[in-house]
Amino acid sequence: MPFSGQFPNTRLRRLRQSPWVRDLVAESSLTLKDLILPIFIRTAETAAHITSLPGVQRYALEELPALIDQINTAGITAIALFPVTPPSLKTPEGKEALKPDNLVCQAIRLIKSLNPNLGIITDVALDPYTDHGHDGLIVNHQVDNDQTIDMLCQQALNQAQAGADAIAPSDMMDGRIGVIRRFLDSHGFNQTLIISYAIKYASAFYGPFRHAIGVSTLKGLPDKKTYQLNPANANEALREVALDIQEGADMLIVKPGLPYLDVVYRVAHTFQIPTLAYQVSGEYASIMAAGQNGWIDTDQAFLESLLAFKRAGACGILTYCALRMAPYL
Ligand code: PBG
Repeated sequence: MPFSGQFPNTRLRRLRQSPWVRDLVAESSLTLKDLILPIFIRTAETAAHITSLPGVQRYALEELPALIDQINTAGITAIALFPVTPPSLKTPEGKEALKPDNLVCQAIRLIKSLNPNLGIITDVALDPYTDHGHDGLIVNHQVDNDQTIDMLCQQALNQAQAGADAIAPSDMMDGRIGVIRRFLDSHGFNQTLIISYAIKYASAFYGPFRHAIGVSTLKGLPDKKTYQLNPANANEALREVALDIQEGADMLIVKPGLPYLDVVYRVAHTFQIPTLAYQVSGEYASIMAAGQNGWIDTDQAFLESLLAFKRAGACGILTYCALRMAPYL
């Protein structure tokens, strides 16, 4: 007789006994509108296949109409674009980023013509365009903050003029949100959203992404630790966020996602500002690899990780599994 008649009065398992009651008391939920699909754009000289990201590919402009159809049918409402720049167009300054007819601008215009209601987010940083692979200009062996911001302003304007709904600076230069905001406003783009990658850690989880856009080997400086955050720090992350909000950021991104769930939680609850989590390439690839080995159930692991972001307070998630998850949501 382990329990007497009056114990336990509270049996939490009563709330778990059947689907209807589990659903009724669910504290977080996941819908397709929470998900943003990152898309790699290629030219003819780059292969579609990405070895390190199973189930993800690079799309040529001619392949976009079919993909956008698929996205519309699935019910995905926002995408993030990442161009793969051919090596011949890369320079130390990444000038290709400023060309009105560069690959990402062509993709923006094409996608807007296919579905004007699909939200388009573009990355503002120079790494897809520089021959050294860093996010900014290298001056005296350092990534120069202020000279980089001049480039980023023009890059952001270039993307806004092509039709991007939101520009997302992922470069981690100090002060860039405020300067970009003023620059966009003064050119008539006061409605272009700024989604700041306020918190971007110097992370090993970006490996497959760097492979996908062809920036796996960095030159000049061996890593991005002089501008991306130290994984040891969370208070510093909150300081980054406070500054970006003051400078006019509309939303924030925490990146990577799952390894930094404490940061997602603290940012969302401290600042009450729309906070997105980026389930980055290495997180996606890890789940896919374990699934392909039969070690975990891939789709259940994705659903669980996405729900974790919502539970922590994220209002949305950038994830390579968005299309794959659509049938469940
Ligand atoms: C670079 C950028 C990176 C990612 C998005 N924008 C990589 C980096 O900083 O090296 C990574 C995304 C991912 O891994 O999925 N501006």
